[in-house]
Amino acid sequence: MSQGKFITVEGQDGAGKSTNVEVVKGKLTQQGISFIHTREPGGTEFGEKVRELLLNSGDEQLGDQAELLLIFAARAQHLKQVIQPAIARGDWVLCDRFTDATYAYQGAGRGLEHSTIETLENLIQGELRPDLTLLLDLPVEVGESRAGQRSKPDRFELQKLEFKQRVRDCYLARAALEPDRIKIVDASQSLEEVESSIVSAIDEFVVSSK
Ligand SMILES: Nc1ncnc2c1ncn2[C@@H]1O[C@H](COP(=O)(O)OP(=O)(O)O)[C@@H](O)[C@H]1O
Ligand SMILES: [Mg+2]
Repeated sequence: MSQGKFITVEGQDGAGKSTNVEVVKGKLTQQGISFIHTREPGGTEFGEKVRELLLNSGDEQLGDQAELLLIFAARAQHLKQVIQPAIARGDWVLCDRFTDATYAYQGAGRGLEHSTIETLENLIQGELRPDLTLLLDLPVEVGESRAGQRSKPDRFELQKLEFKQRVRDCYLARAALEPDRIKIVDASQSLEEVESSIVSAIDEFVVSSK
């Protein structure tokens, strides 16, 4: 039995990740691929508690380093309990956000060192990296307005536009460095157009994986 593939969906809040993950799921199902769908931060009971702490930490100001370590603690648990076993048994893993988000939010956004994140990435993940990342990209103002219409803003959605711009720029810079893995989808388009870009990217990836 060959190993499953690891697909992540990235992009700023309001880009359409949750909406379009459904398109990816439909495509994988149609192809007869067995997969699990999960998310970060979260994906395990422990991880979901961490998610709640990260998104709404209450009145106490959570420090950047505490935030980073919480994210990797949740990720370590997620990998061990869910992601690695799935890949090993041949299931594909579809994950809403992963370590690219850590480089974008905690690195570019908060200003933590790239090398610190890289050290933790290597420690926690070993050699494991996503096989395909769909980066839903759009102007920060558009993402902000979409996310604002959806729900009450969380700790990250409350950040100023400059923070969100650094997040977007970091995602795009990573995509430029790893064009084979990270596929940029223009998420400012209509849902139908975004959907069709995603379908093409998944089709191409499935064909190349066979
Ligand atoms: N291409 C699109 N055009 C218009 N609205 C969109 C589009 N994609 C998503 N939305 C809407 O924007 C909001 C945020 O989408 P969501 O999928 O929750 O984003 P994310 O998971 O990336 O934060 C939702 O209300 C969704 O219906
Ligand atoms: Mg979402």
